[in-house]
Amino acid sequence: MAKDSGAMDVGVQEIDSEHDLLLGVVRALEKSVVSSPHAQVEALLQQLSEFTRVHFATEEIMMRLYAYPEFARHQLEHARLVEQIEQVRTEFAQGHVQPTRSFASALRHWFSEHVRTHDVALARFVRETVGPGSP
Ligand SMILES: [Fe+2]
Repeated sequence: MAKDSGAMDVGVQEIDSEHDLLLGVVRALEKSVVSSPHAQVEALLQQLSEFTRVHFATEEIMMRLYAYPEFARHQLEHARLVEQIEQVRTEFAQGHVQPTRSFASALRHWFSEHVRTHDVALARFVRETVGPGSP
């Protein structure tokens, strides 16, 4: 199946489909923060917060399940982003729009860097541990 985020695929289906969902929210936020009503941006920030937590939990469960040796480092990156998202949400709720704009445009870059460094390594480890043919 052709996907525009195909370049980011890591080869583990659960991770790749959640990345697609997340990227959709990131793109929507990037667009909406420029001109959309406050409530719409707030809803997207909430969606971003929820999707991110669920997705990070998926990866962290995999890391625990397969005793991934880089768990602590990878989890720390996740925790930092979750914290940043909550900080931006708080600032936005207080009427500060600029931090959300800067954050939204930096977020796609954060994701592609995170995928390229941390998630690709995790996916390779999972594939090697589980063996050929799955997951
Ligand atoms: Fe990750």
